[in-house]
Amino acid sequence: AAPLRIGIAGLGTVGTSVVRMLADKKSELERQCGRPITTILVSARDRTRDRGIDLSQIQWVDDPVELARSPEIDVFVELIGGDNGPAMASVKAALESGKHVVTANKALLSKHGVELAQIAEENGLLLNYEAAVAGGIPVIKTLREALAGNQVSRVFGILNGTCNYILTRMEAEGMSFQECLADAQRLGYAEADPTFDIEGHDTAHKLSILTSLAFGCQISAQDIYLEGISNITPADIKAAANLGYRIKLLGVAQRTETGIEQRVHPTMVPTSSVIAQVHGVTNAVAIETDMLGELLLSGPGAGGNATASAVIGDLADIAKSRPGFQHGPVFGRPARELAPYQRAR
Ligand code: HSE
Repeated sequence: AAPLRIGIAGLGTVGTSVVRMLADKKSELERQCGRPITTILVSARDRTRDRGIDLSQIQWVDDPVELARSPEIDVFVELIGGDNGPAMASVKAALESGKHVVTANKALLSKHGVELAQIAEENGLLLNYEAAVAGGIPVIKTLREALAGNQVSRVFGILNGTCNYILTRMEAEGMSFQECLADAQRLGYAEADPTFDIEGHDTAHKLSILTSLAFGCQISAQDIYLEGISNITPADIKAAANLGYRIKLLGVAQRTETGIEQRVHPTMVPTSSVIAQVHGVTNAVAIETDMLGELLLSGPGAGGNATASAVIGDLADIAKSRPGFQHGPVFGRPARELAPYQRAR
């Protein structure tokens, strides 16, 4: 069968892992999808940097928008980052020129997700974003597909690997906040601008996407109460431990009688609770529904390979989809039918 031809924009930690994994897993993916997934084009800011991957068979395109529009590809993979600029321009260009899109960009989706979903749906295209929330954990598929018919009352969890890594090491090893953050950056967990991690913005972006999926409403990140972990000291962690608690940065969204409540803040959780056992870069997402009670998913929330795993899962879905087949809506119900966001009083 004809290969699925992809173009990747952005060769940072995640983009590099995606290129490497697609090459390493070539034959396995072909067996699973019934056709090869082939990287045809790449684009990144710095052409000269040695990324330790073989780009010799892949064509380089300087402008990501030009890459997104290229007739040589079927799918555009956006791994540039940022909630505007080249990420937005290239995703739009791809959808408007009939390409499916896979993105890991939570900031972009949090801001423009509904608008982009509408374009994708009107053009019969897939806009897949499993990697945007909780790294390798398949939480988008879970909310959008596996939990069909369930009414979600609450979704909450640890959605930022960098913060959980910092809090874990501060507690276990008594390391300073700055030392832990530097390690998280070195390991490729942190955002390009790590204030997005430690001030809670990244958690808020992800939570806003989960809220839309869980409650069938428009995305509204500006309605999130937001507090990060930059003011947490070793003394706070010790005081919490003495009382039988651990401090975790949680994102919480729940349905209340007056509307939806969304918040992100450091939370004291009992040391014996399941969420307190989530250590290091691991993320966890709890989903409470009428049919299921509580479901808890946990796994690697950041890092090149974990995030690449989600991107490749999204690509495999596209490779297996049939032309002309009507795709499910991007946020679980048609973008035009998402309820207005109603903030709890
Ligand atoms: N900086 C993010 C985190 C990457 O630490 O969780 C994954 O979205």
